[in-house]
Parts: sequence; structure tokens; C-alpha cells
Amino acid sequence: MITGGAQGFGRAIAERFLQSGARLALWDRDGDVLRAAGEALKALGEVHTAFVDVVNADQVETAAADTLGRLGGIDILVANAGIAGPTLPTWEYPPDEWRRVIDIDLTGAFLCCRAVVPHMRAQRYGRVLMIASIAGKEGNPNAAAYSAAKAGVIALTKSLGKELAGDDIAVNCITPGPARTRIFDQITQAHIDYMLSKVPRGRFLKVEELASLAAWLVSAENSFSTGAVFDLSGGRATY
Ligand SMILES: NC(=O)c1ccc[n+]([C@@H]2O[C@H](COP(=O)([O-])OP(=O)(O)OC[C@H]3O[C@@H](n4cnc5c(N)ncnc54)[C@H](O)[C@@H]3O)[C@@H](O)[C@H]2O)c1
Repeated sequence: MITGGAQGFGRAIAERFLQSGARLALWDRDGDVLRAAGEALKALGEVHTAFVDVVNADQVETAAADTLGRLGGIDILVANAGIAGPTLPTWEYPPDEWRRVIDIDLTGAFLCCRAVVPHMRAQRYGRVLMIASIAGKEGNPNAAAYSAAKAGVIALTKSLGKELAGDDIAVNCITPGPARTRIFDQITQAHIDYMLSKVPRGRFLKVEELASLAAWLVSAENSFSTGAVFDLSGGRATY
């Protein structure tokens, strides 16, 4: 199950998982892009799509039950849906925009975990992967809501990882640096230039590079790491 699976990282993860033999449910709130992704990905394997806004607890619960019915179980949850929010200094940030970013990027991940983890506990197996951000480790200027939400996702990963460590359920997150996806449409060119200037490798992350790490993190082979933060910042964060 991949949230925000219609495009960007989510879609690249979907392609990679299908190539590894997974059966998938893609959740997204952008119906047109989701339908197009579902159609295109069908050639690679079994893909179900569900129109879900991850901030809506009822929609999340209903979609989780539906996904369980269609797939017969959920072994993997990738909580990836997210937005950037406006690029503004903290003192100019509209409170409604702040709440929207925290709601989608942090509370959305929590609600998806809340809906899916009980099934993983019942089967005593699962892999949860959250897509956080380098912003959650470093704190980007003019992106306080996003940075705070992603720091929250990192902490959620650590807490949930410890809660589930007694079973074969792994909870990890990735903290990517900037990758050229549609999320860039939400931020200013100056902010994109700032983020790129911080990457020692001097280029954007490729979505396939993220999908590659994601594939290992959600595999059965990843039987020990949990509550951990995996860096993909091209050398920016060496911790
Ligand atoms: N691209 C980057 O530079 C970058 C870097 C670090 C972290 N991230 C994180 O990676 C994740 C994916 O980002 P992306 O770059 O692929 O962006 P994207 O905009 O290409 O894709 C995000 C997807 O999430 C969906 N989405 C947004 N809000 C939703 C909601 N409330 N409910 C359901 N779906 C929703 C969108 O419709 C979209 O399809 C996000 O959490 C983002 O914060 C991205």
C-alpha cells in the first residue's frame, strides 16, 4: 500500500515493487493522475487504486478495509503522501497553511499507520516505510511547517518502531534530499536553488534511487533495522 502513489516518489516506488512481484494498492487524492498511473502500471502487475485524502480518518479506515479485502492482507505500508506548503519565513506563515502541512505530512502518516498496523500485528509481520525529508533533520529556512512535520515523521518512526519491535514488523523512514517531482511546482525557484546548493553531490536525487532503497527497507531481508532513519541527501547530512 503506497500513499501518494500517483506520481513522483510514490509512483517510482510502485514500479519498483511491481517489478519485485508485489501486488499493490495506490492511494492518492488526485483522481486524474491516480487513474492514469493505475492504467499505466497494470502492465507490470496487479494494481488497485483508491481515492483517499490521508487527512480524512474515515476515508483512510474505509480504504484500508477495502485494500485488505482486495489483496487479502497488507504486508507493506509506504506513507509517502505529502505537500511542501508555501515558502515563507515563519513569522509570515499563515496559521491555516501551517495546519494543512502538519495535517497532511504528519497526521496523515499517523492515520495510515493507525489503520494498517493492527493488521500487521495480527499477522505478526509487516514493513512500514515513511518518506520524511532532509528538511526534518536539518530544518530548511522558509519551510518551517514542512521541516517540523518531517521531524515529526522521524519521531513517529522511532516511537512506532520501538512499539512493534517485538514482532517481525519494521518501521523505518527515508530522509531524501531534493528530487525533481511535481512537488517543486509548490515552491519557489530560489528555494529549489537553495536546496540544490546544499547537496555535496551537486545534483538532484533520482526517484529510482529512492525506490531502490525503499525496496530493500520493505523486504523480508530487512529483518533487524527498525525505528531508523536512512539518509538519501547526497552527502548533506552525514549523521
Ligand atoms: N521531491 C522532493 O524533493 C522530496 C524530498 C524529500 C521528501 N519528499 C517527500 O516525498 C513524498 C512524495 O513527494 P513527491 O516529491 O513525490 O511529490 P509529488 O507532489 O510528486 O507527489 C505527492 C503525491 O501525494 C499526493 N497527496 C498529497 N496530499 C495528499 C493527501 N492529503 N492525501 C492523499 N494523497 C496526497 C499528491 O496528490 C501526489 O500525487 C512527500 O512526502 C514529500 O514531502 C520529497
